[in-house]
Amino acid sequence: MFETLSKAPGDKILALMGEYAADSRPTKIDLGVGVYKDEKGVTPIMSSVRKAEQRMLSNEKTKSYLGIAGNKGFGAAVLDLVLADSVDRARVRVAQAPGGTGSLWVLMQLVNRARPGATVHVSDPTWANHNPIAIGSGLKVATYPYFDPATRAVKFDDMLAALDKLGAGDVVLLHGCCHNPTGANLSDAQWDQVAQSLARTGALPFIDLAYLGFGDGIEPDAYGTRKILASVPEALIAFSGSKNFGLYRERIGAAILVARDGEQADVTNSQLLNIIRGAYSQPPDHGAEIIRTILEDADLRAEWETELAEMRDRMIVLREKLAAAIRERSNSSDFDFVADHRGMFSLLGLPVESVDHLKAENGVYMTSDSRINIAGIPEDRVGDLADAVLAAIR
Ligand code: LMR
Repeated sequence: MFETLSKAPGDKILALMGEYAADSRPTKIDLGVGVYKDEKGVTPIMSSVRKAEQRMLSNEKTKSYLGIAGNKGFGAAVLDLVLADSVDRARVRVAQAPGGTGSLWVLMQLVNRARPGATVHVSDPTWANHNPIAIGSGLKVATYPYFDPATRAVKFDDMLAALDKLGAGDVVLLHGCCHNPTGANLSDAQWDQVAQSLARTGALPFIDLAYLGFGDGIEPDAYGTRKILASVPEALIAFSGSKNFGLYRERIGAAILVARDGEQADVTNSQLLNIIRGAYSQPPDHGAEIIRTILEDADLRAEWETELAEMRDRMIVLREKLAAAIRERSNSSDFDFVADHRGMFSLLGLPVESVDHLKAENGVYMTSDSRINIAGIPEDRVGDLADAVLAAIR
């Protein structure tokens, strides 16, 4: 049977983790996979998460099944966090899913049930896993213009012109905030225009919200999502708790659907639950119960928001330091965009030879498209990194 198979391509982001681990140079720097690291280079367990886990350990009464949609308290708390009052909840349904990826997967399957073989329009470029998920779900993928390599900002006019040409039956995958891989994001005024375009064309917005709170704050980062939900009859959102709660390996996310009315929401949700049942039956509870415990408790929630703000502020400081270090050394503003970008990543716009050079000569690891994980920059090595980047493009 298996002789029919040929080798599948590896995942370029996860493969880097292995390469980095195998590098014995003590001076190596990991700017690869999107995992937050503190000033000691550690991906910490948040203190609010620890406390929630301790509470759960003493309070948990059963390990019986939760049901296909998962932890109901988690679902309700995530809707409050993400949607606020942007949309009538009677039109909304939510199902807990394994991570942002699991949420994307079940929602893409849902799209394929509604419109088999529909086209998902993704930003150019987008997260490396978007296309495999869409294609694996039976959908087609096309791109819309997004990143301008010259300015390292969003090519907004081109993006909007492309979205304006879409129609009902098309799906537009948007990064709700903290664009991965570029770090270049839409302004509130640009989100307003995107929302108007979607309302006009009838294309379905599908929002990947994997980094809520990692950009400028929970409320500012939710602006685009809420604006779109307030403007269109139907939408999908894949929420992830991996980064903002630091729960990477717990695989916790939420698949959210917004339908025209409550009746349509029930029908659509029945299909979503049917997809989940046939895929993994029901989601695991641990990460969901942590998030529910934190969001429902005023003290834990305040603590979590403070910890999230610390992570966000640290990334902004690192951005400013790296941009300043390169400016000082090169006497040019060519890398000032790093300080303007938001979220975990910036796309440096280096040729692949420079990326390879950085890895071979300096032990600096980034994905081949020159995406860097800002949180991976050791604060005391910013100068070394600036030197290495400049040497690699000389
Ligand atoms: C990333 O983009 O590095 C993260 O989202 C981790 C992943 O699964 O790719």
